[in-house]
Amino acid sequence: MKDINQLTPLEAAIELEYLAKELAKADAAYYQNDDPYLDDAEYDRLKHRNTEIETKFPELVRVDSPSKKVGSAIKSGFSKVSHSFPMLSLGDVFSIEEVEDFIMGVKRFLNSPADIAFMSEPKIDGLSFSARYENGIFVKAATRGDGITGEDITENLKTIKQLPLKIENAPAILEVRGEVYMSKADFFELNERYANEGKKTFANPRNAAAGSLRQLDAKITAERNLSLFAYTWGEVSQKPWKTQEEFFTYLKNWGFPVNPNNKLCQNIAELEANFAHLMEIRSSLPYDIDGMVYKVNSIELQERLGFLTRTPRWAIAHKFPAEQAITKINNIRIQVGRTGALTPVADLEPVNVGGVIVSHATLHNEDEIKRKDIRIGDMVIVQRAGDVIPQVVQVIAEKRTGAEKEFEFPHNCPVCGAHAIREEDEAVRRCTGGLSCPAQAIERIIHFVSRDAFDIAGLGNKIVEDFYAEGIIKTPNDIFTLEERNNGGDDLFSIEQGLHLERKEGWGKKSVDNLFAAIRNKRKISLPRFIYALGIRQVGTATARILAKNYGSFAKFMHDMINKETGKLVAIDGIGAAMATDMVEFFAEEHNLDIINKLLNHVDVENFVDDTNYNTPLASKTIVFTGTLEKMTRAEAKAKALSLGAKVAGSVSKNTDFVVMGADAGSKATKAKELGINILSEDEFLELVK
Ligand code: IVH
Repeated sequence: MKDINQLTPLEAAIELEYLAKELAKADAAYYQNDDPYLDDAEYDRLKHRNTEIETKFPELVRVDSPSKKVGSAIKSGFSKVSHSFPMLSLGDVFSIEEVEDFIMGVKRFLNSPADIAFMSEPKIDGLSFSARYENGIFVKAATRGDGITGEDITENLKTIKQLPLKIENAPAILEVRGEVYMSKADFFELNERYANEGKKTFANPRNAAAGSLRQLDAKITAERNLSLFAYTWGEVSQKPWKTQEEFFTYLKNWGFPVNPNNKLCQNIAELEANFAHLMEIRSSLPYDIDGMVYKVNSIELQERLGFLTRTPRWAIAHKFPAEQAITKINNIRIQVGRTGALTPVADLEPVNVGGVIVSHATLHNEDEIKRKDIRIGDMVIVQRAGDVIPQVVQVIAEKRTGAEKEFEFPHNCPVCGAHAIREEDEAVRRCTGGLSCPAQAIERIIHFVSRDAFDIAGLGNKIVEDFYAEGIIKTPNDIFTLEERNNGGDDLFSIEQGLHLERKEGWGKKSVDNLFAAIRNKRKISLPRFIYALGIRQVGTATARILAKNYGSFAKFMHDMINKETGKLVAIDGIGAAMATDMVEFFAEEHNLDIINKLLNHVDVENFVDDTNYNTPLASKTIVFTGTLEKMTRAEAKAKALSLGAKVAGSVSKNTDFVVMGADAGSKATKAKELGINILSEDEFLELVK
């Protein structure tokens, strides 16, 4: 990665755009689907890089910058709760030098050279909650959500036995905040049970906790063993405690679990020693922690320090480095994905990495294997940064015996034997077998029925694989002829035999009927879903929506694709040249066209209905947001403006129609004034969009 000091502004802007996209994608996967896309260490690294570039190029900070976001958007289905007092996030640091900088900053801000006492608390790797008590009675609970609005989890939190439902001697209004987590033991037990029942297991305790707490049916939450620690407060009608330490005493007296490893430290040496201690005992703790949180102990000082946009100035998270272990690479094999990408995977001698048994690691691609000179039989350092796919960090060259074997990356697909080629400028090698390759065909069907595509719940991965192997479903359109084929042969004069899935092992009349009903239900589909379902390389849900909006109907889209109208494609905001090429190439393949044409006999693709309201004061106006909004997040404000037909820009120019100015607005506001652009306060904006 390029040194920040050598980045040109253009490079910096390009990188910031990339970082914003990657991190947004990771956030959505993590918070909305409880299913991470990046591992924690990689996420932290990208976020850190983003902050560094922004510090060097403050004028390039994007409207959608990851540094402006706290946590997640709302998962649909829960009712919303507005936090009367926002639930904030913490800044992250990774080294003791950065902790020192933080403490220096605190001292400078307070103009106090003397040492300041900090409460040092394990950073529990769970999911934060806020529980509200009125006159000592538990009345409501919420997740953090985006920090301003969370999800109502009152019933879910109630199922956690450690939560007191009634407390004595409490202020009339009291919001207690903390972390819900799943202990390692409960996590292993749950996963084992799920594996036995053939259900999808959770990647780590944090995901299991999130997935369990955010259940619309609180009965399911109750079946999973969740625990909690309390560590801070939200709205309170009265605050008799003077320090964080004293607050913990109150919490304990009210009956909340408080982490036994919270420790008051008088100076940085004590913080550092305690950090080292916790890192040492980390794997023996019954729950996952991913670092330490340092909070100025005195509430008076906390109040003087106050807040930055989204984080307090009086607290910081000091994260642990990723967890690593040494093991052997027993084998390297190739997986083939939906778009034919060949991904090398290392089979490892199973090893315990921070409490989780790891037996596979991704090797990403051909170059990565070369760059790290990874060979079969090598001893390697593997890293599991909190979760998902473990990685090989490096080979321990000193441990080589000479028996290690270099891996020859195949030039043919290991599944279908077709040539696997690597285009110039591409990191991946791809199988050219297309849908005649079983691996690609299966992955494509799995994609086709996935949640954001046709969303056919009854067709899980295992069933798709079985049906494919038995020739029951070979292409997406076979899904829609399934019912007819199933009943074939019932006709006395028919020579065709029906499939009679209901006679298959594991199936019955009811489950087959349910499956057919689910499929019938999906014969009508929205244009964005249909485009996404096709599985065109690089076309995700967002791109599919952009395409749907621009073409309006599938017929128009297909017409242009077949006629290779790449010029029209790249003229669309959000579609790049590489993507355009992929799309046109997709439609140039005979078998793809064949599938699409057959599909169109079975499904009704609805024309795109643009739900943007153009009859509004903001229609086709360009609007810029600056400063901190207090009543809504940037994302909400932006979404609102877009839904009213406005364009949202990142910087002020003479083409800007409105600038909405929040608190602490900087150079954009000045520029808007200079250019004589209409400036709106947050309230005026809200009035306008009401
Ligand atoms: S204090 C303004 N204390 O870490 C104070 N947070 O990155 C904000 N967390 O959202 C929170 N253990 O989910 C605090 N002892 C602890 C914590 C803790 C875990 C989580 C929490 C928070 C996130 C901030």
